[in-house]
Amino acid sequence: MKAYKLNDNVVKYTFGNPINTDAVVLSGEELYKDNIDFFNIKAEEDLSFSYIMNKTDIVYGLGESQRGMNKRGGIYEAFCSDDPMHTPDKKSLYGAHNFIVIDGKDKFGVFVDCPGKAVFDIGFSHKDELKIKVEEKDVNIYIINGKSAKQIVKEFLNIIGETYAPPKWAFGYQQSRWSYEDANAINKIADKFIENKIPCDAIYLDIDYMESFKDFTIDEKAFPNFKDFVQDIKNKGFRLIPIIDAGVKIEKNYDIYEEGVQKGYFCTDENGNNFIAAVWPGRCHFPDFLNSEARRWFGLKYKNLTELGIEGFWNDMNEPALFYTNRGLKEAIETAKASEKENLDIYSCFALKDKFINMSNNIEDYKSFYHNINGKLINHYKVHNLYGYNMTRSAAEGLEEIENNKRFLLFSRASYIGMHRYSGIWTGDNSSWWEHILLNIKMMPSLNMCGFLYIGADTGGFSSNANSQLVTRWTQFSLFTPLFRNHSAMGTRFQEPFSFDEDTNGILKKAIELRYALIPYIYSEYMKAVKNRDMYFLPLSFVYEDEMSKRIENQLLLGDSLMLTPIYEENAIGRYAYLPEDMLLWKVKEYEKRKYSIVKQGHHYIDIGLDEVPIFIRKNKMLVLGKHAQNVEKLDNKELNIIAFVEDKAEYIYYDDDGKTCDYKNNRYTEIFIQIEKTEKDYVMTVENRGNELVKELNFEIVDIDGNIHRKKTYLNG
Ligand code: GLC
Repeated sequence: MKAYKLNDNVVKYTFGNPINTDAVVLSGEELYKDNIDFFNIKAEEDLSFSYIMNKTDIVYGLGESQRGMNKRGGIYEAFCSDDPMHTPDKKSLYGAHNFIVIDGKDKFGVFVDCPGKAVFDIGFSHKDELKIKVEEKDVNIYIINGKSAKQIVKEFLNIIGETYAPPKWAFGYQQSRWSYEDANAINKIADKFIENKIPCDAIYLDIDYMESFKDFTIDEKAFPNFKDFVQDIKNKGFRLIPIIDAGVKIEKNYDIYEEGVQKGYFCTDENGNNFIAAVWPGRCHFPDFLNSEARRWFGLKYKNLTELGIEGFWNDMNEPALFYTNRGLKEAIETAKASEKENLDIYSCFALKDKFINMSNNIEDYKSFYHNINGKLINHYKVHNLYGYNMTRSAAEGLEEIENNKRFLLFSRASYIGMHRYSGIWTGDNSSWWEHILLNIKMMPSLNMCGFLYIGADTGGFSSNANSQLVTRWTQFSLFTPLFRNHSAMGTRFQEPFSFDEDTNGILKKAIELRYALIPYIYSEYMKAVKNRDMYFLPLSFVYEDEMSKRIENQLLLGDSLMLTPIYEENAIGRYAYLPEDMLLWKVKEYEKRKYSIVKQGHHYIDIGLDEVPIFIRKNKMLVLGKHAQNVEKLDNKELNIIAFVEDKAEYIYYDDDGKTCDYKNNRYTEIFIQIEKTEKDYVMTVENRGNELVKELNFEIVDIDGNIHRKKTYLNG
């Protein structure tokens, strides 16, 4: 083992000869060291690291995974999995995010940079033991020091590099569904949004738009004159976002297939033949995204669609999902044939069923194909978790080459640490279950800890049928997530706002309008988090140090000023909320009509009607609120409202930029520094404009600790 110091707080321990995953962007200088801080290490069949936790230690992290924000009590496997049943017993979801923070007697972070399977047993097998096991003995382990969990996360975000920023329009509401079968269906959806005056920025094209599910093709029958169609929809105010899948259909004369074969860009089996497994189109080959040439080749194919006016994509099935291989299919059929004349008892009947179930995403299949990494053949199983990451990297690098400096919308299903530099993620095939709103809430800060900021779940749930109440409560939470998309599966109940009754449509419309009014704050907080390597959603304990705040998992902090207490239970008319300090509560029915109440530090039951969104503004903090419009480009935020709860002094930096280019990376952005200070009788505002030419008026609504509202106005830009 070798140790390298990356900076004062991070040491990398290298075991064997690990593959470069590009997760971490810093390298370090070698140290002399013969032990790894904190861990007891064992190298038998697997390499394992163990640590004894104190009773009250909390373990944060693991990004996209089941259970709570505190991961203690669970066992988790980092192995990107196409598993649509997100029940609490599932050890793996679509992402592999091997970063944890131990917050207790010791405080430290661990990043296990291992592209194969890693198991995190966090007090499951033994209540106090944290044990990390990796099958591969070639691995980098990073130990991150810091004074608090929050600081450790910041150190981690520093070494993995700056997070992706989507275009500003991608902060608008987005409507999706698998089964918008043709241009007509999409046009109808667009028209309904306009008719109902519900803001919306994007409509999604699921696999329905492709010809026989082939990447970069268009079904000309269902979507004739695609380029004009994209433009027509854009003229109506919406962008179309097509899906791209990892598998490439095996079909003669299909250019992507032919080229991939000819250039040797597909993954191969042990005999050097292109690996075959089925996904949506049937049998496919799989681009070798770990091969840099293949990556560039596939990435530039996105041009086929950008040339038609497309400005955003979602990459799917990139764990990669394998429905079956010839091997699995043959085995299942043979077992079935042999069983035909048998008297199947419970064991053999289940074994037969399992043969068919295990045809999909089978480990044996993952072990049967290879990547060509810099001329070396590497078995897929060893680098499994890098596949979706590199598909998305391929897209991001391709898009950059296609149109340099333009921000595209891009997010992926599978992911690994480091992919956050290229795109966002959505949390995959959840269900229309109340439990999944809560899982969504808890997962958000964990994903932020792993670098992913542009995130969101399928609002309303993907599988199963949603009722109006579930979609309402879910929308009332999702309106705060950077990716705000309602998506559902083919065959399930439609869940667009207008697919329900009029009341529900009205409530959803108000919630979506609130989202648009909040965009000045949401965008400002998002971009500051990108630039400062901060989180957007935080657990309460990252700001408040009291014991109770450490145990609250169903409330979140959003950026600098807000606390959220979403409703995630059916038929609830309110909920319990814990306030670590006095806060200002704004129950939003319509954001234009504002009424506030002060809620004191402590535990409370808060009534929250089905048509209300609770927003807590923290003490000595402020919220920037604009107005809604039909889409983000139509927002007119010349006048901004500053809603502040001020005991003595509040400060805020309002960030903005062009929302279209990557110029913000070269410091081309604007800020308005706002300070509100209480004097003996009044409030004094200091506003320092650092380059913002758009905002003309700031309307202050300052609420004092007795609940009195002080209204003031400041003019900017002449
Ligand atoms: C996968 C995706 C889902 C999509 C479906 C059809 O299940 O996760 O979002 O709708 O494939 O493309």
